[in-house]
Amino acid sequence: MSGPVGGNQAMTTTSGQLKAQIGPSILNADLSSLANECHRLLGCGADYLHLDVMDGHFVPNLTFGHPMVASLRRSVPVALFDMHMMVSEPLKWVQAMSDAGANQYTFHYEACGDDDQQVFDCIRRVREANMRVGLGIKPNTPVDKLFPFIEELDLVLVMTVEPGFGGQKFMTDMMTKVETLRQRYRQLDIEVDGGVSLDTVGQCADAGANWIVSGTGIINAPNPQQVIRQMRDVVNEAIERSQLDR
Ligand code: DX5
Ligand code: ZN
Repeated sequence: MSGPVGGNQAMTTTSGQLKAQIGPSILNADLSSLANECHRLLGCGADYLHLDVMDGHFVPNLTFGHPMVASLRRSVPVALFDMHMMVSEPLKWVQAMSDAGANQYTFHYEACGDDDQQVFDCIRRVREANMRVGLGIKPNTPVDKLFPFIEELDLVLVMTVEPGFGGQKFMTDMMTKVETLRQRYRQLDIEVDGGVSLDTVGQCADAGANWIVSGTGIINAPNPQQVIRQMRDVVNEAIERSQLDR
């Protein structure tokens, strides 16, 4: 494990309260200069880096694999690498990604062919490889598909666009999934990904998300530092309010 975060712990403050985590997706960054882009985003206050792995099969797009992650880790030794594995064979890449320096491995429920045992096997392998483990669902997958696995997970990912490309429109109707998860699981790390910007982060925060992925919303902003700070404030304020409501 090369990063700062150990497995199987929600991202909470010392008082046990959930904490906002803002993770830029580098998909739409200048990929010819990825290490510099990562340093720039971390310098702007990013809490983690969201790295989108696409295999051209699970989604109709292709990005990069573990060799690139290993190279990036050499240039970026400390940041949390959150691997969003949009791949058809999530088990296949677990050890390689861990060896490359990944900290969190989020794979998709849909990649496991509706076979709960496959999901459990993959969760176990990720854990054995000393990474935090996340499980994601695409927009057409009902939230209750996640329920059997929650106790074994560090994080759930609710996609707010069809995975595959940056810059798509945020799907507001996914917020009911986040609300359902937050009502049932007060301490769970819930991540949203797709179309999240300063215009839409409030909805995510009010629904209960605390891990916020934003690609173009941060990368294309004239002042990414300010966007990251504002997103974090919006989420932490929503967390505070929800604690008062209890
Ligand atoms: C989409 C990826 C996202 C994407 C987000 O499939 O999983 O992480 O980069 O980009 P924006 O925030 O621009 O939708
Ligand atoms: Zn992603």
